[in-house]
Amino acid sequence: MKITTPEVYKEQYANSIKNPQTYWTGIAEQYEWFKKWDHVSSGDFSSLSPTAPPLKWFEGAQLNITVNALDRHLKTQPDKIALYFEPNDPQESATTYTYKEVHQQVCRFANVLKRNGLQKGDRAIIYLPMVPEAAIAMLVCFYMSMVPELMFGVLACARIGAIHSVVFGGFSAPSLASRIQDSSAKILVTNDEGLRGDKVVPLKKIADEALASCSSVQKVLVHKRTGASVAFHGVRDLWLAAELKKASDICAPEKMAAEDPLFILYTSGSTGKPKGLLHTTAGYMVWTAETFKNVFQCGDKDIYWCTADLGWITGHSYIAYGPMINGATQVIFEGIPQWPDGGRFWQIIDKYKVTHFYTAPTAIRALEAMGLDYVRPYSLASLKVLGSVGEPINEEAWQWYSKNIGKDKCPIVDTWWQTETGGILISSLAGVTPSIPTFATLPMPGIEPVLMGLDGKVISDNSVEGPLCIQKPWPGIARSIFGDHQRYIETYFSTFKGFYFTGDGAKRDANGNFRIIGRIDDVVNVSGHRIGTAEVEDAVNQHPGIVESAVIGVPHAIKGQGLVAFAIAAGGAVIGDEKTLLKETNEIISKMIGPIAKLENIFVVKGLPKTRSGKIMRRILRKAAAGEKDNLGDTSTLLNPEVVAEILSKTSSDRSQ
Ligand code: WT7
Repeated sequence: MKITTPEVYKEQYANSIKNPQTYWTGIAEQYEWFKKWDHVSSGDFSSLSPTAPPLKWFEGAQLNITVNALDRHLKTQPDKIALYFEPNDPQESATTYTYKEVHQQVCRFANVLKRNGLQKGDRAIIYLPMVPEAAIAMLVCFYMSMVPELMFGVLACARIGAIHSVVFGGFSAPSLASRIQDSSAKILVTNDEGLRGDKVVPLKKIADEALASCSSVQKVLVHKRTGASVAFHGVRDLWLAAELKKASDICAPEKMAAEDPLFILYTSGSTGKPKGLLHTTAGYMVWTAETFKNVFQCGDKDIYWCTADLGWITGHSYIAYGPMINGATQVIFEGIPQWPDGGRFWQIIDKYKVTHFYTAPTAIRALEAMGLDYVRPYSLASLKVLGSVGEPINEEAWQWYSKNIGKDKCPIVDTWWQTETGGILISSLAGVTPSIPTFATLPMPGIEPVLMGLDGKVISDNSVEGPLCIQKPWPGIARSIFGDHQRYIETYFSTFKGFYFTGDGAKRDANGNFRIIGRIDDVVNVSGHRIGTAEVEDAVNQHPGIVESAVIGVPHAIKGQGLVAFAIAAGGAVIGDEKTLLKETNEIISKMIGPIAKLENIFVVKGLPKTRSGKIMRRILRKAAAGEKDNLGDTSTLLNPEVVAEILSKTSSDRSQ
């Protein structure tokens, strides 16, 4: 049921909206189930409450996602290459795994997890107010670089019904610790060290630092990547390789209920600590598999490469699950685009004859800035489809990507989605529906995007702009925030009652194509990474000389958005020059969150613009920092309008430097 023409897209889309039950029945029947569902779906956005049943898809079904990602292919294509692993260092030889080999590795890993204390427990709906101990005992946290073992470990969890939680290797010890504490993970899997370009990340050392404040973790499995000597804690720490060697490569898949949790993935929000989005099994499987198939149109002989790290949702949905369920051949890459030089991506594309390439606008802009001399040595002739994800892609980057990488012959799929959505919601379908520069274009079957007006009601005309909401549940939506269902309801379903609010603003053109403008909440998208300003402010405020701060996003040529702080000095504190302050603050941020949340600039001011209710008006700071001083909007509701002049003079003198 792959969508192969614009007419079929139109027909399937219409059908998915008109007859969702029959539509999803037809789709789900293509996958393998131990037992089929009793109900296609239940629950809607307006009936969610802390005590009401959560959203459900394919209730009554039993399945294992790894049967669909692995076992199913063993019957038809056991020797097809599933993974090419391209290591950080181009001198190091690449490794190849067939579907049969991935299956064996996953089974071995699954047996290691079982032997180290993970047993199938009662996985009853853990996202409702109470969290039974049994479910907690099933959680495995991964803090690793992009090595095949990370992928095997993730699938191994799914094999035995354990919940995985992958933490990006760029996060610092306190960030890792807070995620482990929130999820009560029982096992932690990490590397001795991670390799990223010319940097070595001491993952085990950082993990040890985090574990000092995490009592739930009973075992640490260490994957030897560099062979560096690392501290080992007697009974707690084990070498992964030694454990795998002892384990059998046969492991029967656990029968999972459709709504059993599959994983938790933390992401930043506009307030408070990061949220552990909880995804469940059947709906997520169907969503990632279908969207991968239709958006990328990857053929049997094609080679797909998504440059994301498994620590983000893109790595989950479009590396670990979607492509594997579709039996694709993919490249996974440990390194970074600029090392050893700016031609690395293009060299890898030629090396493996990559046909489908999926990356982020920030990488495209960074490589564009390095110049075409890095592109010219490579033919890139294998490419058929290009993808973009993570942030709005600007016209210039789109054109550069299309012309210099796609040689004007590859459709670009600009895929809009979020950690919460599980998979792509709005995108063109490669070579099937038209790509339009800077537009994500059209919704997937089952998705009804709407724009909201100032009155909080749906605007039905085209050629309009407003907050982007989704009208009805779809199979891949996150079901909860781990341990805090109330926060899930408040965050996503209270701004516009009865709708899922995305946090993004969007435009719709006369033909119904969507263009995503960006976040309209206090979330900043830095290089495709979501950063909640509240978290960064907490870190900035740790500086002994700062009493209060406001962090905002400003346009940035490479990163899309960069972070800037306005800070008030603590009474009596002597703050040296702003450059030193910036350096000191960034050290704190790197330690507390990770280097991705570093500031571009910090301005010390006497006051922050506040409303009468004490809320910081970030809009004014954003406009001032972006040089839009004549466009500050209404400042009459400010409690302290006198602070605006100083803010404007600080930011404009900064730009004139
Ligand atoms: C936010 C979600 C989607 C997986 C990676 C990021 C922005 C994402 C696009 C796009 C414009 C995009 C949105 C969204 N975003 N893709 N194609 N065009 N904006 O997932 O970390 O959950 O971030 O990324 O602002 O809300 P995430």
